[in-house]
Amino acid sequence: MRIRPRRLRRSAALRDLVAETHVPSSCLVQPHFVLPVDDAVEPLGSMPGIDRLGVEPLLRRVESDLELGIHTALLFGIPESKDAVGSSGEDPEGPVHRATRALKEHFAQDLTVITDVCLCTYTDHGHCGLLQDGEVDNDSSLPRLAAQAVSLAQAGADVIAPSDMMDGRVRAIRDALDGEGFSNRSILSYAVKYASSFYGPFREAAESAPKDAGPRDRKTYQMDLRNVCEAVREASIDVEEGADILMVKPALAYLDVIARVKDEVSVPLAAYLVSGEYAAIELMAREGLAAKSALVLEHLHAVRRAGADILITYHAREALREAWL
Ligand code: PBG
Repeated sequence: MRIRPRRLRRSAALRDLVAETHVPSSCLVQPHFVLPVDDAVEPLGSMPGIDRLGVEPLLRRVESDLELGIHTALLFGIPESKDAVGSSGEDPEGPVHRATRALKEHFAQDLTVITDVCLCTYTDHGHCGLLQDGEVDNDSSLPRLAAQAVSLAQAGADVIAPSDMMDGRVRAIRDALDGEGFSNRSILSYAVKYASSFYGPFREAAESAPKDAGPRDRKTYQMDLRNVCEAVREASIDVEEGADILMVKPALAYLDVIARVKDEVSVPLAAYLVSGEYAAIELMAREGLAAKSALVLEHLHAVRRAGADILITYHAREALREAWL
C-alpha cells in the first residue's frame, strides 16, 4: 500500500513545501476607525487591541503598518454630527476626508486608501439608507451615496467601498465618479453582505446601530443568511454595474458563499473577517482556551482556501508584527 500523503507530513519544512494555501502580506487590508479630534486615541472596549484614532495617531499607525508590509487601509468615520440624510458623510472636513487627504499626501501610491461608503454612521436613525414612512427607501438613498463617494474621491480615495446594500448603488456611484472625472478610481462592492449578528462590536465602534426610527434590524436590505444563489445574483449584478472588486461578508460562516462567488465571477474577491469574528478570537485567547496565533492563522487560511484573494481583517497588523505569517 502506498501512503504518499502521510509521508509528506513528516517535517515542518516538508509540510511547508507542499502547502497549498498561503497568506501573503500583500493580500491583507487593515481597517481603521477615524475620530474627528486630530490627536485622539480611544481604545475600543468591544474590540480589545483596536483603537479609534484621530488623524495624527492614524498617520503614525499607518506608517508602522507600511513598515510591516500592509499597504492597504480601509477607513470608517465617526462624525461630529448626524442628521436624517447623513449629510456629514459628504463633508470635506469630515474625519475620513481629512484622514484620506493626509494619508495620500504622506504615503502617495505606496498606500492604497479604501473608504467605506454608507449612511449608517452619518444618519441619526442609524440605517444605511434614507427612511421614508418608517421604511428604508432604496432609490432616494442612491444620490446621497453617490455624493458621498464623489466627495471621498475628491479627498483622494483610491477605492470606494459601498457597504449599504442598496440596489443599483454601484451603477449610481460609477456614473457619478465618471461624471466628475474620477474614472481612474475603483469600486470595491460589499456585494454579498449578510444581515449578521457578527457586526455587533463594529456598531459600537462606529456608533452605527439602528436607533428608534425605522426597522430594528437591517434585514430589509442586507442578505438572508439562508441564501447562496442570491449571493451569486448579487455578485453578478454588481459586476455588470461596474464593480472592480467584490466582497463577501462576514467570512467564516460563509466560506461556501466565498467559494461559489469565486467560481461565478472573474473579478478579484475580498472577504471581510468582521468585528465579531475578531472579538471571538480575542475572547477565546483571553480565556486561555487556545493560542491566538493558531486561531488567527486557521481563520486566515480557511478564507484563502475558500477562494478569497483579499482579506480584510483587524488582525492584519498583529499577524505581521508577531511574525505569525
Ligand atoms: C456599514 C458597515 C458595517 C460593517 C462594515 N460596514 C456594519 C453594518 O452593516 O451594520 C461591519 C464591519 C465589522 O463588523 O467589522 N454598513
